[in-house]
Parts: sequence; C-alpha cells; structure tokens
Amino acid sequence: MVGGGAGAYIGGIHRFAARLDNQFDLVAGAFDVDAARGHAFAAENFIAPERSYDDYAAMVEGERGREDRIDVVAICTPNHTHYPIARAFIEAGIDVICEKPMTTTLEDAVALHELARSSGRFLGVTYTYSGYPMVHEARAMVARGDIGKIRVVQVEYPLEWMATGIELQGNQQAAWRTDPKKNGRGGSIGDIGTHAYHLAGFVTGLKADAVSADLATFVDGRALDDNAHVMIRYEGGARGLLWSSQVAIGQSNGLRLRVFGETGSLVWHQEQPNELFHTELFGSPRVIKRGRDDLAAETRARTRTPPGHPEGYIEAFSNLYQGFAEAIRARAEGREAEPKGRDVPMSYDGLKGVAFVEAVVDSHEKHGGGWCAPRFA
Ligand code: NAI
Repeated sequence: MVGGGAGAYIGGIHRFAARLDNQFDLVAGAFDVDAARGHAFAAENFIAPERSYDDYAAMVEGERGREDRIDVVAICTPNHTHYPIARAFIEAGIDVICEKPMTTTLEDAVALHELARSSGRFLGVTYTYSGYPMVHEARAMVARGDIGKIRVVQVEYPLEWMATGIELQGNQQAAWRTDPKKNGRGGSIGDIGTHAYHLAGFVTGLKADAVSADLATFVDGRALDDNAHVMIRYEGGARGLLWSSQVAIGQSNGLRLRVFGETGSLVWHQEQPNELFHTELFGSPRVIKRGRDDLAAETRARTRTPPGHPEGYIEAFSNLYQGFAEAIRARAEGREAEPKGRDVPMSYDGLKGVAFVEAVVDSHEKHGGGWCAPRFA
C-alpha cells in the first residue's frame, strides 16, 4: 500500500476490504508522506521493517528485486500523486489498484490508461459504489429491460462535512481536497461527482454525449467548487441530472440514484444499501432485498450473509477487492473471469471519470454553462 497511514481515511477501508475474503495479505508499504510516521505505522501493523519504505520510489526499487515481491499495490494517496505512483509500479511490472479520481488531468489519465493497456498490467480503480450487490441488481434489471428504455437519470451525492472552512482548521482530508494542485480542477465534482457519474453509467450502461454545468463555491476563500449541478445528455436521448455537494447539511453520505424508464423505475440509496425499489407504471413500489434467491447471479456473487443480516460499505468495498483478485487471476490464467470478477472498474472507467470532470469544469468556466462533450465516455 502507498498512503493510508496514521490518521488517513480510505487506506483503512482498503485494508478491511482486502482482507475479508483472504485473497490479499498486506506485506509492504510506503504509508505516509512523512517517512518516519510511515515506518511507525508499518511497525504497528506488523509489516517487516525491510518492507516499510521511505517513499513509493524506494518501494518500487525494493520490491521489484524481491523473489516474493508484491503482486499488486493499492494507491491510497491524494489525487495528484496517483499518476506518478501508478506509473512507477506499472513500469516495474506490478499491478495497481488506484483510488479515484484516477488522475488530476486528462492528459495523465490518457497516458496511464494507455500504459496499462500496452503493458498488459491490471489497473483497477476503486469506484466503491459499484461493489454493492443491489447496484448490480439494478444494473441487471436495466439490462434485462425491466424498466424499459431509459428516459431520465437522477443521481445525487450530497455531503455535509465541508459546509464550513474546515480546511483552515487543520482538517487533513479537507486541506488537500480544496487545493487545486492536489485535488485537480473539480472540487465536489471531482471528489464525489465522479462517484455519482460512475454509478449512473454503471447501472444504466448509458454513455454521456454532453454535459452542462453550474458550479458554485459557498465557503468563503475556497478555491474549488463545493456544489455542482450538472445536466447530462446521454446517448439515445435520455436526460440526466447530477448534483454533488460538500455543503449539504444533514446529509452524511447521501448518494442516491433514481432511474426512470418507459415502463418502470428504480431507486437505490447508499444509506439503505440492502434495498432496491422497483416501481412499474401505476404500480406500488416493490422493495427488492439483498440476499434473496431470486436475484441475478451477479448480485448473488457479491453477497456474503443471508437475507436480514445487513451488509454495507465494507462488504461493498470487499466486493471490489474480490473482483480485482479474480480479474487478476483470470488474466494471468488466460480465462474468462467468474461473475464476481467481471465488470470491475478499471483504467478506462478512471479515464472516463477524469474526462467528465474536465468537461464539467470547462462547461462552467469556459462556456458559461454551455454544453461540452466529455472526450471519453
Ligand atoms: P487522507 O489525507 O486521509 O490520506 C492520504 C494518505 O496518503 C496519508 O496517509 C498521507 O500521509 C499519505 N500520502 C500523501 N502523499 C503521499 C506520498 N507521496 N507517498 C506516500 N503517502 C502519501 O486522504 P483520503 O481521504 O484517504 O483520500 C485518499 C484518496 O482516496 C484520494 O484520492 C480520495 O479521492 C480517495 N478516496 C476514495 C474514496 C472512495 O470511496 N473510493 C473515499 C475517500 C477517499
């Protein structure tokens, strides 16, 4: 692992997720931008001292020469470091699991995607929400035609935690997220809008033709947007509306997707992830619950506990890790992946996310909210 040291957020979630199915052991790392802190963290986590590295470059050098070298590295650092770190490991022949957004510029995203493709290395991107079983159920239902041709996609990702200027009060996570050099050009849209965009595309299978955006910064002195409204024109005529917000008081992690087709609709809410609501024209909403036997194979492949025992965020993240493990194995063995290893987010998904942010920020900054086409969709 690179990043994810003491006081970091997502690295800990990666560590839980990687371990749930016994497919990964954490054996090496450059856990912190501060080498001494990173070594202390490594020691607390039972990493052999010779495999706790000062930085990612030392880790690449140290690991590439070992017979028992790491198979894959998880990159859990702020956005601006993803590109050089991922590049260095791929060039050393090591597979990569990278946090989103994959890079801070479209140029870097294109280069990284091309590098992953040309080298044949695996590059997974942790779009967490595509790990939820009921998201897979929604996707299977759309693909089966259960709600008919899609007309409208509404997706929102409101959060409360940056509703005040906490970046000036020592909050580590907010500090780099509000720095354009570290976060990239899109504030809320890059941080959480990318999750919402991926979720909507993952469930519906629709590609975006163009976006029209209105970005706002509500907290004084903040350099990036903390609220974004984006209209999306999807291929085939469907219309989308995406809202990302870091200033939505009362919203802890309010990611919600609603998809309306010609014959029905689907609603999924991240805070109640074991349920999916399906409504047919003029019918009563039907609650579809995780764990039941009548669900799609893709859904069942991502379910661990019987119905009634809630699964959540950690399990969803584990499903990504389980999928990455299976995808990496299948690739190495030259066979088709089992269902749990299919449809995991990879470098092209990462590239699409960065292209979306570019198009959104261009629409707002350069075209007064006019329509812009994402360069990759
Ligand atoms: P954080 O600030 O909590 O942690 C970053 C960690 O990286 C710290 O341990 C820091 O010391 C370390 N670090 C920074 N530069 C480094 C370098 N050059 N070498 C080694 N370590 C370095 O950040 P947080 O919130 O955990 O976010 C990290 C990444 O994860 C971001 O890209 C973010 O967008 C993404 N993220 C993804 C989520 C998801 O749902 N998939 C949720 C939260 C964050």
